[in-house]
Amino acid sequence: MHSRRTFLRTAAGGAAAATGAPALAALAEARSWFTSELASTRPASAAMGSGAPSLPTPDDYLLDPEIQYLNHGSIGTIPRAVHAAHRRYLEICESNPWLYMWDEPWIEPLEDVRRRAADLLGCGVHEMALTHNTTEGFNLLAHGLELQPGDEVLYSSLNHPGASNPWTHMAPIRGFRVRRFDFPVQDLPGLSSEEVVELHLREITDRTRVLVFPHVDNLVGLRHPMEALARGAKARGVEVVAVDGAQSVAMIPVELASSGVDVYAASPHKWVQSPKGLGLLYLREEIQDRVHPMWVSSGQPGAAGTIRRFEDYGTRNRPEVMALGDALAFQDTIGDEARTAHHRNVWAGVRDRVEATAGLLWRSPRRWELSTALYNVEVEGVPSPELSSRLWEEERIVFRPIRIGGIDGARLSPNLQTPPEALEAFFRAVDQRW
Ligand SMILES: Cc1ncc(COP(=O)(O)O)c(C=O)c1O
Repeated sequence: MHSRRTFLRTAAGGAAAATGAPALAALAEARSWFTSELASTRPASAAMGSGAPSLPTPDDYLLDPEIQYLNHGSIGTIPRAVHAAHRRYLEICESNPWLYMWDEPWIEPLEDVRRRAADLLGCGVHEMALTHNTTEGFNLLAHGLELQPGDEVLYSSLNHPGASNPWTHMAPIRGFRVRRFDFPVQDLPGLSSEEVVELHLREITDRTRVLVFPHVDNLVGLRHPMEALARGAKARGVEVVAVDGAQSVAMIPVELASSGVDVYAASPHKWVQSPKGLGLLYLREEIQDRVHPMWVSSGQPGAAGTIRRFEDYGTRNRPEVMALGDALAFQDTIGDEARTAHHRNVWAGVRDRVEATAGLLWRSPRRWELSTALYNVEVEGVPSPELSSRLWEEERIVFRPIRIGGIDGARLSPNLQTPPEALEAFFRAVDQRW
């Protein structure tokens, strides 16, 4: 009698083609539909190098045209083409879940997703695990990293709870210590890269084994000088540099191979614009043996010795992982240069306008090398929750109110397709009311 696995293998190999071959063919067809859709909707990229890649427009997305969406930092929106491909994968899967949930039909496509993710992050494909989000990456690390009692994990007040709470949760269980220091956010607009680095390095003690920081924090959008921090920390005896990439991947360039970073966890449902509930986890090859998988399933023996041991959940939603590959392909059509030029231009415009307007305060870095497409603007005397709820109710403007260290501002995070009118609407609404 055949086990399910043997049967699928046979089927995919052609002997029992009645089920296996159509299974592969249907997926292959859905994938090739996406490739031609991308080529027709994003033509400049299809012929890479034959002209500047075009930026996506609101028509490429499903966002309600009645809202002004300035909150890509909380959650992104998926391109229409990626969404359509995702639906196709789901429909194929639902047509015969037993056939489509496991094994052959997905193996090559999923490895392709891993390759694309590794390309975007500039690391080896054998260092890239496909997880569910940033929080999972940090849970995996806090659960599985070999640390001794008394070892210290260090991060600043700009660290997100998703990258902090796994450590505070595990500390009493495992006996390591966690130390959080206050980042002087009020001083941020004037800080230099060197000062940001020094603020971290001076906190390192001879007990510090792990340094955690966000590549881009979610409060004021500081782009941490990642390589200088990693280098400086290692020189002071830190063994593991773990970076939270939730806000950075597909927003700013990320190049991990030579960065000195050991772990980098990300949430592509933000700037990569993938379906929700997908994550990327870079584990530098040399560190993988120091980390134990957080959970294991029947797949663990087959994953032994590979990066797949860190993404072994048993059954998972493979259609959405496939759609992550398509979201990565979509982002690929834009390229770092065009993306950076656009974000920088919009950032500079907003900063200058805020600084020229009485009653508005720029709370994010003033220098581009420390800045991003996410920034904090305070309307003096107006509590940010009130600002946000009024502008939502009266103007359908979406942004996140942020309070930290005496700052009480609107966190604006437009993406490439955000029309200039959305930011205009924000400034006009503030001007009219306060
Ligand atoms: C900097 C940062 N880290 C971590 C997270 C947590 O992301 P997730 O819920 O996708 O794990 C967020 C979410 O907003 C974030 O902004």
